[in-house]
Amino acid sequence: MTHTPIRQAAFPTSLLEENDGPGRNPTGNRTMGDIIARRFSRRGLLGGSLAVSAIAATVGPIALITAGNARAETGSVFSFDEVEAGIDETHHVAAGYDADILLRWGDPLFADSPEFDPANQSAAAQQRQFGYNNDYVGYIPIAGSAEHGLLVVNHEYTNEHLMFPGIVTVADGKLDIAPADAARVAIEMAAHGGTIVEIRKEGGKWQVVRDGRLNRRITATTEMQLTGPAAGHDRLKTSADATGARVFGTINNCAGGVTPWGTYVMAEENIHGYFIGELPAGHAEAANHERMGVPEGAYQWGNFEPRFDVSREPNEPNRFGWIVEVDVEDPTSTPKKRTALGRFKHEGAESIVARDGRVVFYLGDDERFDYVYKFVTAGKFDPANRAANLDLLDAGTLYVAKFAEDGGFEWLPLVHGEGPLTAENGFAGQADVLIEARRAGDLLGATPMDRPEDVQPNGTTGTVYVMLTNNTKRAADKVDAANPRAKNAFGHIIELFEEGGDFAATRGRWEILLKCGDPAVAEVGASFSTATTANGWFGMPDNCAVDAAGRLWVATDGNGAKATGRTDGLWAVDTAGAARATSKLFFRVPVGAEMCGPLFAPDDQTAFVAVQHPGDGGDDWKPFGRPSYYEDPSTRWPDFKPDMPVRPAVVAITRQGGGKIAV
Ligand code: FEO
Ligand code: CA
Ligand code: CA
Repeated sequence: MTHTPIRQAAFPTSLLEENDGPGRNPTGNRTMGDIIARRFSRRGLLGGSLAVSAIAATVGPIALITAGNARAETGSVFSFDEVEAGIDETHHVAAGYDADILLRWGDPLFADSPEFDPANQSAAAQQRQFGYNNDYVGYIPIAGSAEHGLLVVNHEYTNEHLMFPGIVTVADGKLDIAPADAARVAIEMAAHGGTIVEIRKEGGKWQVVRDGRLNRRITATTEMQLTGPAAGHDRLKTSADATGARVFGTINNCAGGVTPWGTYVMAEENIHGYFIGELPAGHAEAANHERMGVPEGAYQWGNFEPRFDVSREPNEPNRFGWIVEVDVEDPTSTPKKRTALGRFKHEGAESIVARDGRVVFYLGDDERFDYVYKFVTAGKFDPANRAANLDLLDAGTLYVAKFAEDGGFEWLPLVHGEGPLTAENGFAGQADVLIEARRAGDLLGATPMDRPEDVQPNGTTGTVYVMLTNNTKRAADKVDAANPRAKNAFGHIIELFEEGGDFAATRGRWEILLKCGDPAVAEVGASFSTATTANGWFGMPDNCAVDAAGRLWVATDGNGAKATGRTDGLWAVDTAGAARATSKLFFRVPVGAEMCGPLFAPDDQTAFVAVQHPGDGGDDWKPFGRPSYYEDPSTRWPDFKPDMPVRPAVVAITRQGGGKIAV
């Protein structure tokens, strides 16, 4: 998540991802982001598509050629005619495709769900409706179907200023948000978590099956179990839970995954924002909490739910920051927080079966200067026996990545007793290693990265893609081969090639696929191919998807009027041959939104995308030019009705007349 800073009466919920990492750079040097921001704010004066033309006009050494020519000249695997980059109130998809709204915040999921009534929302209603800020999207087929299945969707966080009427005042061009009351906090908690919902394609269009047998809402209050090596440890016990294994809720679920055995995994990312209070002086958890940024106080839940106040429950933060696994085939099942996969700011958990049957989960820790991890199960996947796979995530090896200058990398095991992970260094056992996975990575010498987001294996090519979204705090003397740009405002993408093509290997080779940003601005140092058009480049790669044919699609977080003069969107990226590093814009989001969740149906005939926090911002977009909030949003997407707020929503993209999205 990245969105506009807001002045709140009590807590700035929108600053979660602006939290500085441990390598905070105190210099006052002008960043590349500042330079680019100035360029685009000047262009913004031109407004709309004129601004885009202005960008094209500044392109000097880069040859701008049409997308069709790009395909002919470079052998691009993508043939669609790309969308024009820009900013306006609505979404845009490439010509010849339909982009249909499938699920919006507040949509009823059950027979007894109240219809969405935003002016009179309640926690009870929200618990039976689609949650806020859809992020990860997964599809679990029913009876092997590509046209009938369960859609699983994370609800990462809430934007109070866009959700609730009557709580915002504007002063000096800034938003002030009234302090929360218990009822508002209860709604916020009910709008977090995830949704499991049956969907079916009829007549070429996807429909939600209201009251589907397996439909389920998971929220910040759903009872869950901690399992694996850290479960039951003293550091996970609270006054409400003497077992150290029973916890309520999951929060800030960013990306995630679907396992080979058909369960839904949800990554707990920026958990620090939900805690308030101060630890008692000299408390044993002080350094641990500081390494995770706890407490950050973006949300006011701790005023009403004492467990989110670290002065009252110092161990509660240790019960968040895990990967949560949900058995979607039983809507009464207890979700499990799998401690074997470590505790950090988990971005996602995409997985693949290795050659020998073990299952490999790729994990990013999204903070500046934090690490890339993977988890390899001890047991093997049994495709003939689903039940035998259901606890595979409780045993295995967690590794952290160390990148070498010569293009090699190593996966270093986080195993208690090995190397520096000993009692002398404060790790009494494996539970300590997992609870403080970041500190274990520090001691092992892992490579600090430019904010690892999705890490996605490609089963067709054997490659693994690492999205590194940006890091403007990287000083010039802290660059390395894998993070080669100082003040990296636009991010980059690394490819991993595991040794011998074995996803369970402990070493391999790496290459940079793409350095992002405007290739027409020499100081940016972007590396898109010369066939990439003025619409085709992007910054801030975040989520990504690989389609059934093995092609890469990248979703972004952080573009906008100020950063790049264009909204976030979904770009198709060539990875092979002469077309390598050619990118084309396929879909773009409305003003203020971030692009999440890209996912292709198993038959490649649908691309599901999640439009997160639409309307969050607008003051830097000339045609709106003022703060955006519930009563006065920069867009009322997707309903465009005067009595409806702007609503995050999942969109289903299909080809007009049917067929695969990309041919
Ligand atoms: Fe929630 Fe790292 O994006
Ligand atoms: Ca993000
Ligand atoms: Ca993300």
